[in-house]
Amino acid sequence: MIRKLLLGLAGLAVVTGAVFASSHAAAPHKGAIKARQSVMQLRAHYLGQLGAMAKEETPYDAEAAANAAANLALVNTLDQSMMWPKGSDNASVENTRALPAIWTDGGIGAKANTFNAAVEAMKAAAGSDLAALRAAIGPLGKACGACHEDYRQSNR
Ligand code: HEC
Repeated sequence: MIRKLLLGLAGLAVVTGAVFASSHAAAPHKGAIKARQSVMQLRAHYLGQLGAMAKEETPYDAEAAANAAANLALVNTLDQSMMWPKGSDNASVENTRALPAIWTDGGIGAKANTFNAAVEAMKAAAGSDLAALRAAIGPLGKACGACHEDYRQSNR
């Protein structure tokens, strides 16, 4: 019984090992790409909450606004250096919209800095009042868009 189970487990290990190896070969950098796309999804989640308040689709709530802005800032503290490996651009691998220019034109750092500043400004403003949130959301949304314009493929 135990022996059968062990053999079964060994077989499973071989199978999962093979599946992992083949998916890895077919889709290099898959984990890193998923991770950075998840970072972006988090950003979209929090920006969406702030945007809904700015447009008064949901009532302004100082605590919720401050929370969303603080979380945007927290996301920025993640070390993303392993999420953007060379060779993980959309010309080299599938399932990413990251343009090769990210790794070649030297401009992404400036886009990231502008974005970080807009997030900090939102963090300072969001919990004050609706007017302050509104003043901060324009530059923030623009900072997302400016980076996408240059560094993200416009459609999949
Ligand atoms: C410094 C550049 C940069 C900034 C700033 C930036 N993004 Fe992105 N974003 C990208 C790139 C590059 C991709 C493509 C990533 C990929 O497909 O591997 C992306 C992808 C996305 C995606 C698609 C994720 C997926 O699941 O495929 C969403 C949603 C997104 N960004 C939202 C945002 C929002 C919202 C902001 C601002 C609050 C933002 N991004 C700020 C560069 C940026």
